[in-house]
Amino acid sequence: MSSFINNGKRIVLTGFMGVGKSSVARHLSMLLGCERVDLDSFIEEQERRKIHEIIDKDGIDAYREIENRNLDRVLAETKTQVLSLGGGTWTVDENRKLLKQHDLTSVWLESTFQHCWHNIRSSKKERPLARNKTAARKLFDERQKLYALADWHFIIKPEFTSFDVAKQIAEEIFS
Ligand code: S3P
Repeated sequence: MSSFINNGKRIVLTGFMGVGKSSVARHLSMLLGCERVDLDSFIEEQERRKIHEIIDKDGIDAYREIENRNLDRVLAETKTQVLSLGGGTWTVDENRKLLKQHDLTSVWLESTFQHCWHNIRSSKKERPLARNKTAARKLFDERQKLYALADWHFIIKPEFTSFDVAKQIAEEIFS
């Protein structure tokens, strides 16, 4: 039994690649006992291709269109209460507008570039926009002001587990 009051709020998690959005979303949905969707996985299922294949073959602009179309679909067709985005989803104006229209509460998981980069390097996930440290750093710096537009902001430290972060979010937003 969850000890949190599930007030029905719908949460969207954003933040840079490697910060842990998907894992935190998994724990959060377990704590709240609710449906969760990971946008990257949803896109891969719908498109029957890996995201890195789409970006490498069709380019980033084509990928952003696919991402926007699938975000629209997730919001229209699922009752998901916890949605984890790809690291770039929230930085696109159209996507932020869509999320607002559907009344999602946005949560920025913020960490240092060093922490995200460490996780990117140690993960098996293929990330075309983070193959090069300098390019990833530039993207990280450019995106901070956009992530900061989120409703809530949680600082992630390397010593926190995904469960710790999920519990903190549940305590702050669902109590
Ligand atoms: C991207 C982040 C990735 C994935 C795609 C683009 C980005 O998701 O959506 O490779 O633009 O930051 P993660 O944040 O889960 O790695």
